[in-house]
Amino acid sequence: MSAVTAVTAFGPGRVNLLGEHTDYNDGLCLPFAIARGVTVRAQGIAGDEVQARAADLDEDDAFEAAAPGRRAEGWRAFVRGTVGELTAAGHTVAGTRLRIAGNVPRGSGLSSSAALSTALALALIALAGEAEGDRRELARLCSRVENDWVGAQTGLLDQLAALFGREGHVLRLDCRDLSIDAVALDLRGWTLAVAPSGHEHAHAGSGYNARRAECRAACEALGIASLRDAPPDAPDTLPAPLDRRVRHVLTENARVEAAVAALRDGDLGELGALIDASHASLRDDYQVSVDAVERTVARLKAAGAAGARIMGGGFGGSVLALFPPATAPPPEATVVEPADCARVVDADT
Ligand code: GLA
Repeated sequence: MSAVTAVTAFGPGRVNLLGEHTDYNDGLCLPFAIARGVTVRAQGIAGDEVQARAADLDEDDAFEAAAPGRRAEGWRAFVRGTVGELTAAGHTVAGTRLRIAGNVPRGSGLSSSAALSTALALALIALAGEAEGDRRELARLCSRVENDWVGAQTGLLDQLAALFGREGHVLRLDCRDLSIDAVALDLRGWTLAVAPSGHEHAHAGSGYNARRAECRAACEALGIASLRDAPPDAPDTLPAPLDRRVRHVLTENARVEAAVAALRDGDLGELGALIDASHASLRDDYQVSVDAVERTVARLKAAGAAGARIMGGGFGGSVLALFPPATAPPPEATVVEPADCARVVDADT
């Protein structure tokens, strides 16, 4: 067998139809991978160094494969973290030249970060001539990159969406047992579109980690391991703002189940109503919206959206909207549909 000399891998961004801030509470989400994403070309080179180039940013990085160091920030932290976690998991990372290029806007709530880490991991594993193994394990590995190297205490939503996405389907993720059910997304002439709020976000350092801490505090007060186990009356027994946070998680899990039922019944009007209800809950109970997002939601609703909501980690990013047939999304919005998961695109031997 001849050795692999270069590999190109692609990791998709994702849209989350419903189920926000539920993943790290052992809850339910409904994401899909999109056609936009990050492409990584990995080429074997002599020596032990990883030389990385972020083509869109015109920036470079170089480090010893065996000692990626923990002091990097931004895209460099993702590259170094992915190399570090792959090595820790027993994969081989030798001298490599990486070229990274993407078309998911960073900080837009479309998870450019999981697109990057999944593409990188797949490219480096294939370059080493190794098997990628279980994709749930790979999702966990990519999530550790974000948690331990980038400093954002994010859950598994983005990585699972990128690694399991399927054209024409949304994924019902149960983050407690990591079961994944593909549900056909038959939009019957309706359209989903995302619009930037113009307010970028970064989870490390945003209110995201604070929300996670509040959820942990609520679990402690309730004496439960995760908010998935919170009883329906839990909000009545907790002090502010923990009562609101728990109410969001409970109602959002229920909305995911209702959305799956609405999709199976072909009831797109109901889906729009659920998207609106999710936004109200994220704004009022989870309190992760900002003025720029509220203005974007209002514009999309005025343009005829049946539902519009803040998407992703919050505090900025993109707004997702559902438009009925014959109502064209406004020019600021990009139509999105479910596309396939992260993959090796080609390999040279
Ligand atoms: C970000 C995180 C995910 C998830 C969402 C909120 O996208 O990366 O793990 O928590 O926010 O639903």
